[in-house]
Amino acid sequence: MIKTKIIKQKDLAVKQNLNIIKQALLSSKLVIFPTETVYGIGANALDPKAAKKIYKAKGRPSDNPLIVHISSKADVDKYVKSKSKVATKLINKFWPGPLTLIFKKNNLIPKTITGGLNTVAIRMPKNKTALSIIKHAGIPIAAPSANISGKPSSTKFAHVLNDFKNKVEIIVDGGDSLIGIESTVVDVSVNPPVLLRPGFITKSMIEQVLKIKIKDKSDIRVKSKVKSPGLKYKHYQPSGEVIILDGKIKKVAKYVNQLKLKSIAVICESEYKNLFKVKVRDLGSANKPESLAKNLYAALRDMDLWKIKHIYVHHLGDQELAYSLMNRLLKAANYKVIKL
Ligand code: TXA
Ligand code: MG
Repeated sequence: MIKTKIIKQKDLAVKQNLNIIKQALLSSKLVIFPTETVYGIGANALDPKAAKKIYKAKGRPSDNPLIVHISSKADVDKYVKSKSKVATKLINKFWPGPLTLIFKKNNLIPKTITGGLNTVAIRMPKNKTALSIIKHAGIPIAAPSANISGKPSSTKFAHVLNDFKNKVEIIVDGGDSLIGIESTVVDVSVNPPVLLRPGFITKSMIEQVLKIKIKDKSDIRVKSKVKSPGLKYKHYQPSGEVIILDGKIKKVAKYVNQLKLKSIAVICESEYKNLFKVKVRDLGSANKPESLAKNLYAALRDMDLWKIKHIYVHHLGDQELAYSLMNRLLKAANYKVIKL
């Protein structure tokens, strides 16, 4: 069994700690580290043996590719066959930051991490701890979200500890994630580019920079052929059944309050929490979509802590960041929506 070493973010000021992380990564071990979106479970992206350990630790299907994290914009050229003008524009505007781009990969990137695909997902995170770990290690780091496959992502140190204590070599405690949902994924290996996963950076923000419309294939239900393999699996699901309630809040409250169920809870915005007679998980203010994002995965994970069997979530809307949040919630609910 591995005995996980915990390193606090502030202790990375001590070079010896960065060296310990570097040595772990260079000897094919797993290191969990914070990013501005969610925590990532990282390994040397150039080392197939290390990548396999990620799949094993998460219980992740091997055809679901990983994101390669780099610490400088220039590094992308080391791992891709070509970089379009569109890609350059997006990199200049959004990196470092919560945007992952899909490129045609070159031979340095092993197919173990791309799930057998000829493309690779690359992102330069903004989180200072993540950047210093990648830079100091001197290698690109493959890192999916640090959660057991199918479960909600980790946005708190307690979440990664719960899922991976004594399953990885090192966990870096970076406190709470700033953004709270995973990066936006855009395929720039095709023209026009395709949105595969909405995130903090929204479709309209991308279109504003590119001055063209991009395709949205982030809704797996309307897709004929699965392009992003990760999309076909179960995602973000607590143990209880999640159901989305779509309608005016008064109708939603009336619907929930007449249910005769044990072990039930509602996830909704702060403004509405007093309307319900059942247990409520406050997601933050409806006027602050950023706070909803920050609380999203902790709320879903609380459902397991509270042992809730029936989880009702108020629909958050379909514009901008709310659209990205609903992308996650709809998957958590397996697309079960009741229109009221
Ligand atoms: O914010 C994030 O992106 C976090 C942090 C740790 O950086 N990482 C993350 O990784 O969310 P993961 O593995 O949970 O999600 C990666 C997504 C999956 O939906 C995967 O299918 C897609 O990116 N992806 C990766 N490589 C791809 C490729 N070559 N083509 C299409 N989709 C790809
Ligand atoms: Mg994930």
